[in-house]
Amino acid sequence: MPASRPGRLPAPAALRLPPGPYLTLCCILAMQLFTVPAIATAETPPAAAIASAHPLATAAGIEILNAGGNAFDAAVAVSAALAVVEPGSSGLGGGGFWLLHRDSDGHQIMIDGRERAPQAATPALFIGPDGTVLRERLMDGPLAAAIPGVPAALDHLARHYGRLPLSRSLAPAIRLARDGFAADDKLTAMIRFRLDALRRSPAAAALFLVNDGPPAPGHIIRQHDLADTLQQLAQHGRDGFYRGPVARRLLDGVRAAGGIWQDSDLQHYQVVERAPLHGVYRGIKITAAPPPSSGGIGLLTMLNILSRYDLDRLPEATRIHLISEAMRRAYRDRAQYLGDPDFVAMPVERLIDADHAAAVAASIHLDRATRSTELPEVAPTTAGDGPDTSHFSILDRDGNRVAATLSINYPFGAAFVAPGTGVVLNDELDDFVIQPGTRIGYGLGGGAANLIQGGKRPLSSMTPTFVESDHQLAILGTPGGSRIISMVVLATLQLAAGQQAAAVVAAGRYHHQFLPDVISHEPGAIAPGVAATLQGLGHQLEATSRPYGNMQLILWDRRQRRVEAASDPRGIGAATVIPAIAATKP
Ligand code: DON
Repeated sequence: MPASRPGRLPAPAALRLPPGPYLTLCCILAMQLFTVPAIATAETPPAAAIASAHPLATAAGIEILNAGGNAFDAAVAVSAALAVVEPGSSGLGGGGFWLLHRDSDGHQIMIDGRERAPQAATPALFIGPDGTVLRERLMDGPLAAAIPGVPAALDHLARHYGRLPLSRSLAPAIRLARDGFAADDKLTAMIRFRLDALRRSPAAAALFLVNDGPPAPGHIIRQHDLADTLQQLAQHGRDGFYRGPVARRLLDGVRAAGGIWQDSDLQHYQVVERAPLHGVYRGIKITAAPPPSSGGIGLLTMLNILSRYDLDRLPEATRIHLISEAMRRAYRDRAQYLGDPDFVAMPVERLIDADHAAAVAASIHLDRATRSTELPEVAPTTAGDGPDTSHFSILDRDGNRVAATLSINYPFGAAFVAPGTGVVLNDELDDFVIQPGTRIGYGLGGGAANLIQGGKRPLSSMTPTFVESDHQLAILGTPGGSRIISMVVLATLQLAAGQQAAAVVAAGRYHHQFLPDVISHEPGAIAPGVAATLQGLGHQLEATSRPYGNMQLILWDRRQRRVEAASDPRGIGAATVIPAIAATKP
């Protein structure tokens, strides 16, 4: 499949601002868009590593590495195992982005397995008689579900990049689905959160509820229908899901409950191989997710702006001020310009080049917060996140890498299971704009570029990323709705400052996304004195009700010949370094 190229458009008028007078600090225009030639790295890592959001998913990946699989086979195993043991976060009924690096030839690609809107999807379906958006239709039940991409992506990964057959890499997940696994606190909390919607889907209730309520932690959840569906995928590849008996059950179940899927929606689903975006921040190479993720553009725009300041030498309040101002501007761009690259032209190269950073940085003041209303207007946005969505990172002994972020959107997606499939369907249609100017899921819509349309992929914030200096490589990402991009930016800055993996995933987090015009932060992430200084600059601060994110990070220090892996302490994940696996080039 050809890699798609980002669109190239003339610079929008709003971007042609003259450089401002405020760049009194170090001004290194380090960040440039460039096309990175495929280079194989000279050395292989001393250990393989996997970091995922669930110990059983990490174990599934290790089993496949031990069976002779490479990082891509392990990615199939981890993705499928997460579908079983984190059914509220990702799964066969959802989508994701798998950012790959194949070390033998330096090939880097992103497998775009993002869901697509069914052909019959229109804005009118989701607008009530009084003209308001019917949010519940975008969140609960099969009308909210886009056509899943995960099964096709796993088939694609195995066929084009793996060493093992799909049937081998799916075996651990099939076993977990049949034998069952113990529900953990996070899962039971998610079930409680989505209880009403899950009760409305008898097949979902049969799987995840006990006596019509959430199960107690430790309850064994067995998923025989899901095991059968995985088995069909293992035996027949993508056709085992998008055609044949599984497809029939999906379509019957969706349509009987008011959904709009058609045979052709399933049959025509395709993954797309997309060229990753590249940039450099202070000599550190960033490889990031292109549209329909907004993550790479957001990340590179922010780093581009921040490369104009010597952050490490600034007082903490000034540093947070500047980082928040960079976030404000990049999230504004997101809302204005971004959508599915197969449907809309976007000024991608312009948005991630140094001139754009210079233009937007011109309006940053060191001595006061910009009001978001001072910047060119786009639709309102609101911050959001949740315990759903999942990221994992893999490095194998040959130096192959995977950073993958997968989602069904809200906890338990649409909270709907088509009878006989065991597949929890996503509610990813809520990532679309229904009416320009109105609030959407995680508040990050805004423009016509992301307007719902049949066949289109909703714009995503998922940001699987590689961060690579001359001596270190990091593989990272996280769930967290609209806050994903800002979390990856903070992690990249911490890596650039030389922090270790465990410190990076544990660090306190803060976020600004243009509108609402507020720095939201984890409780305790900003010290009271620093908060007072930020308020003095005119920032409004707001603590989130709880910590957020679930970052999974692998760090290979080439100089010290050491591999570290860290799983976010906010989650229950497992990060494992495996030194003993023999290296064999694919
Ligand atoms: O693709 C997206 O941007 C969202 N569907 C991701 C949702 C998410 O991360 C949920 N929060 N943890």
